[in-house]
Amino acid sequence: MDPVNASLAEIHDRLGAIADGEVADYIPQLASADPRTFGLALVSMSGHCYSAGDIDEPFSIQSVSKPFVYALALSELGPAEVSRRVGAEPSGEAFNAISLEPGTGRPANPMVNAGAIVTTSLVPAADPRDRFERILACLSAFAGRSLDVDEDVYRSEVETGDRNRALAYLMRGAGSLSGDVDETVRTYFRQCSIRVRVADLAVMAATLANGGVNPVTGDRVIAEPVAVRALAVMATCGMYDTAGEWLLRVGLPAKSGVSGGLIACSPARFGIAVHSPPLDRAGNPVRGVVALTELSQRFALHLMHQPGRHIATVTEVTTALDQPSFRARTPGERAVLDREGHHIVVIRAQGVLEFTETEHLLHALRESVPDAPGWIVLDLDRVTRIAVGPATMLGSALAGLASTGHELAIAAREPLLDPVADPAPWTPFRSRAEAVAWCEDRLLATTAAQPSG
Ligand code: DON
Repeated sequence: MDPVNASLAEIHDRLGAIADGEVADYIPQLASADPRTFGLALVSMSGHCYSAGDIDEPFSIQSVSKPFVYALALSELGPAEVSRRVGAEPSGEAFNAISLEPGTGRPANPMVNAGAIVTTSLVPAADPRDRFERILACLSAFAGRSLDVDEDVYRSEVETGDRNRALAYLMRGAGSLSGDVDETVRTYFRQCSIRVRVADLAVMAATLANGGVNPVTGDRVIAEPVAVRALAVMATCGMYDTAGEWLLRVGLPAKSGVSGGLIACSPARFGIAVHSPPLDRAGNPVRGVVALTELSQRFALHLMHQPGRHIATVTEVTTALDQPSFRARTPGERAVLDREGHHIVVIRAQGVLEFTETEHLLHALRESVPDAPGWIVLDLDRVTRIAVGPATMLGSALAGLASTGHELAIAAREPLLDPVADPAPWTPFRSRAEAVAWCEDRLLATTAAQPSG
């Protein structure tokens, strides 16, 4: 068995014996869940699914829907409008607490019921049916398949959801919830009743961990900044009144629900989901909490864990003396290049350039800048991506070098850096050979223009 499946199977077999916790019964339909049900699924950034235990058991998504509907509202309205209506502070209270800001009535965060009800009401739609259809379509895109509703759970919630109705009326009274209370609460109940399997939740979590792109279907579901915001709110508020302890012990953005679902997202690594109906006093699935605590420790997943540098960024620093171009030269030109070739410095980098890697590259650049007039070839052919902020750092460092009398050539098959000025302070080339040859030509032209002697 492959090692990831083996880890999940081992955790499943051992933690299956835990008999603590109570199946939620405040929604009668949930009380019929089998407390022995226990399934785990993990979806990687390459879209591979690993699983163990009861993975075919359907259940209602409940509060695990909240970060996804929050992401939908953010996508539709933007962060400013959403934060005007729902806060982002942990309430330190239970999921169904009356966590409203004194004065404004604004709910504390979108992960508690009050905040989730307002978030649901914010999803723009032509009518109530349309609002729910948009929510269902969004959650389906996160899951990578068409989800449906467990009508029995929905009816059960409608019949017994007075506390949520009371919350909604309070918020309407305070002015923080606009629109029809009954319609909003019904849409929220329907959202909670969307039927999933544990692997669906793992794909949904993996989509958030993957910056908003579903790693199974390849579809972008939400923009990256929206995924970042949803993950941030999950990290601080996803586990209700145990959110602080959770961040301490597991260190991953997570969200639980009363039917026993629990997701956790390891950014750029994977999404994981557990289904196990017995809950602890905070409303979190007992086996899920233990499973994720163990997995986080075993695979060093805590967000604050220092992962170490994966690969060297700068793989070569050389000059045209050691690595000349293959362009044909006359004996006179060859003599000049043999004498002056050290004025052409070649630096090769690789991988993704985030802040740390770019800082490293800029340091190497500073260390090896030739005296002016000098030429620098930045060989970025093996760089796969430059993050936005780091691209600005690199662009302005190159502009600085250009302003001190250096000529710059960037070699890359794909354009990686937007020109910071017009004309750009560097000349792009499709290959390093062309870039070095161009620098040699410039050096020869400069030398020829100078009086000999
Ligand atoms: O609002 C409710 O009562 C449920 N439909 C959803 C709550 C929930 O899952 C809270 N999570 N722990």
